[in-house]
Amino acid sequence: MKLCIDDANVERIRHIYAYFPVDGVSTNPSILAKTGRTPYEVLKEIRSIIGEEGELFVQATAQKAEAMVEEAHRIVKELGETTLVKVPCTPEGFKAMKGLHEEGIRFIGTAIYTTMQGWLAAKCGAEYVAPYVNRIDNMGFDGIQVSKDIHDAISGSGFDSGLLAASFKNSQQVLELAKYGVKAATVAPDIIEGLVKNAAIDAAIRTFTEDFEGLCGKGKTMADL
Ligand code: G3P
Repeated sequence: MKLCIDDANVERIRHIYAYFPVDGVSTNPSILAKTGRTPYEVLKEIRSIIGEEGELFVQATAQKAEAMVEEAHRIVKELGETTLVKVPCTPEGFKAMKGLHEEGIRFIGTAIYTTMQGWLAAKCGAEYVAPYVNRIDNMGFDGIQVSKDIHDAISGSGFDSGLLAASFKNSQQVLELAKYGVKAATVAPDIIEGLVKNAAIDAAIRTFTEDFEGLCGKGKTMADL
């Protein structure tokens, strides 16, 4: 499963990229708004951190299909052809997706709360479809189950698409979908760090260090012997 960072804060992205095996960065209009910066300025900085091979997801914000396609052209022009345009799974969004598919522009279906939205986006040719796990939970439904159903519906139909599962509140939700074999998850930095934040891990490492220093001397490592 690919792992992306769901954030646009360049310092946090640099930190997570340095320490964790991540494949890209996803943004949405609300995430960009939190930076308080000019969108293309911050997105270009993110592109320079993740390189051309990193997957960068940028959302179209227009309401009408033709305007979404126009936005997609501008996004790709500014940020490179490897950038994936996020298109909301609404009727206008599906119309835009069909146009983008014909043009060969990479896109994903986003704002997914139902299995049918995900299945339709995959049928439109979306490279990824993004169910909002935690937001679905908050509506009283089961976000993990909806994600699994979309995964099954896509593979059952033989579509060349997969999940970019989004909106997580904890690392357990991420692991649950990793075990199920979904294509990708996009996760906030604090939850990525939470994947290995554990008092038992810290205690084990501390004991190893103390035992080794007891044997070889304070501050010594295998490189010093
Ligand atoms: O990009 C969409 C998704 O990641 C939203 O997450 O935490 O705002 O529900 P959240």
